[in-house]
Amino acid sequence: MTDLTISENGQQLKVGTKRFHSIWLRDNAQDASTRDTGNGQRLITLSELPAVVTISAAKAQGDTLSITFAPENVTLEYSLNWLMAHAYDTTEKASIGHMPEHAESWGAGLQAAMPSAPLPALKDFDATRLSWLDAVRKFGFAKVTDMQATSEELFEIVEVFGFVRETNYGRHFEVRTEVNPVNLAYTGLGLQAHTDNPYRDPQPTLQILACLENSAEGGESMVVDGFTCAMRLREEDPEGFLALASHSARFSYTGSEGVALHARRPIIELSPEGTLMSVRFNARSAAPITDVPFDAMEAYYRAYRRLSDLVDSEEMQVCFKLAPGEAFIVDNTRVLHARKGYSGEGKRWLQGCYADKDGLLSTLNALENTL
Ligand code: FE2
Repeated sequence: MTDLTISENGQQLKVGTKRFHSIWLRDNAQDASTRDTGNGQRLITLSELPAVVTISAAKAQGDTLSITFAPENVTLEYSLNWLMAHAYDTTEKASIGHMPEHAESWGAGLQAAMPSAPLPALKDFDATRLSWLDAVRKFGFAKVTDMQATSEELFEIVEVFGFVRETNYGRHFEVRTEVNPVNLAYTGLGLQAHTDNPYRDPQPTLQILACLENSAEGGESMVVDGFTCAMRLREEDPEGFLALASHSARFSYTGSEGVALHARRPIIELSPEGTLMSVRFNARSAAPITDVPFDAMEAYYRAYRRLSDLVDSEEMQVCFKLAPGEAFIVDNTRVLHARKGYSGEGKRWLQGCYADKDGLLSTLNALENTL
């Protein structure tokens, strides 16, 4: 038996230990006049409801809660399980700079257990696809093996969960040494771990890099969890962490003719609830920072410098050398990627492309609902 208490003014209902507001309950009714039974979309707007919605009666039977609203004088039914799963009456306050739901912080220890799946199984088996997509959501990183080492094979990975995001670099881009490169990625230089394209808004949220040849000396890939680095910074220097999170940085790319990309976004981005949403870190495309007040710039650079050191520290890094027919995906809002310099005999040829996380998470959620 569930205890139900209507507040004196009729604008709150206590269900067991959880309180709900009358307007919230009315807005979230699941009946056929409020929600389309086919696509689940809401059929009403708030403006169509009375200015003040009150509860005149409530009763529970089994999993069904019936609520009568005034002045409409309609009785609507709710599943108690559904209601409890959506309760918002909590006193818990999350810390500023916490991991998002479903995400798990990692460091060098992930080296021994890198999430990975063969491409044929990703295509053929829902269970393999589900666990690989879940790893991308959890770690922001996963490998793919058993691919053909042929051009544009990386699109086969994207087709497993979503759609390619085309940019001025093309539907895909070649990562190999070029004469007069438009981007330092197309040289043999080592690159500090970074997130790609912070000069776009929105930035691409997923990147895939697939290997076609890797016989040169060096050229190992490396990934770093930007959220782990951000949380370490927060522990060591809360003031510096907040300086990075509460001011915009600037990023630019003007390396090709007809392209002038600029974005103004923080290096560490938090949701209003303090959840880590994004880390943008890319020394090559950082533009002069002009949104930090003079008095805050010292703390800002102190934190920026420390974050750079954390990104470079071995305890944060997972390193591997891609073989032809192997690829990896990173959540570009969270996981930084790098490569070591390469030279000498042999070749290094990777192909990269971007995609977006909303499509990946949608595929994952839908699989979770069906399996
Ligand atoms: Fe990159």
